[in-house]
Amino acid sequence: MKKNLSYIYLSILLAGLLVLVACGTNTDDGASGDDTTTDEKPVLQVGTDAAFAPFEYMETGEIVGFDVDLLAAVMEEAGYDYELENVGWDPLFASLQAEDIDLGISAITINDDRKESYDFSVPYFESTHMIVFNEGAGITSAADLEGIKIGVQNGTTGEDAAEKVVGENSSNISKYDTTALAFVAMANGDVEAVVTDNVVAAEYTKNNPDANVEAITDTESFDSEFYGLMFPKGSEYTDDLSAALTTVIENGTYEEIYQEWFGKEPDVDALLNAAE
Ligand code: ARG
Repeated sequence: MKKNLSYIYLSILLAGLLVLVACGTNTDDGASGDDTTTDEKPVLQVGTDAAFAPFEYMETGEIVGFDVDLLAAVMEEAGYDYELENVGWDPLFASLQAEDIDLGISAITINDDRKESYDFSVPYFESTHMIVFNEGAGITSAADLEGIKIGVQNGTTGEDAAEKVVGENSSNISKYDTTALAFVAMANGDVEAVVTDNVVAAEYTKNNPDANVEAITDTESFDSEFYGLMFPKGSEYTDDLSAALTTVIENGTYEEIYQEWFGKEPDVDALLNAAE
């Protein structure tokens, strides 16, 4: 027993010496810069608005969703550690602009307006808008939004889509901080329809059979759009993470995550084509 202990002490001493030697070497060539200690990547701060199921939402105190799993895969591929925080939608844009966070993932549509102030990755999901309304309201196209009370999430492309139909300053549009709140407003009768991203509309309809709502799309009025990771303008991480996202889309990881959340195969080629 005693003998074993002294072996342990000896090992600890030797290990200590090795560390000292290693440190010595490091300081020696420190001037040349690029040794392994300076290669360490920063922990990236990621923001989201977790009230947009199935892309990001809270479940027993945790942020979960398709975006959350995709983010994990992209970060692993790129070799970054990260922290994901539920900052909310409007604050997400402000935090990115102030560079308080490094990127956002939140089913964020890539569009020209936003490209003026932010950078985007390659696209990772195609979307269009849907109108959710109380069963029997008889809405068959976007034109039927005229003259009824509409709920949207403030500052989203759903807001833009509704405004395109009924006018930018229409007093019939109520803007909510989250899409979940817009749905609550509809359940309360404050609004008669909600315009939001198709997959989110379908998820709400499916998950709330008692709400007695239905959803329609109108491809004539609503364009197709694509989600991307969003970065502060000029971010040093855009290229790296965009490349990692492309790898994840190409190597089958994206398909796995997509299958898990949506139970069908993604159109990977369409995505890759849209990136060009
Ligand atoms: N795709 C829409 C947009 O970019 C809505 C996104 C809302 N996302 C969210 N997590 N609340 O404007």
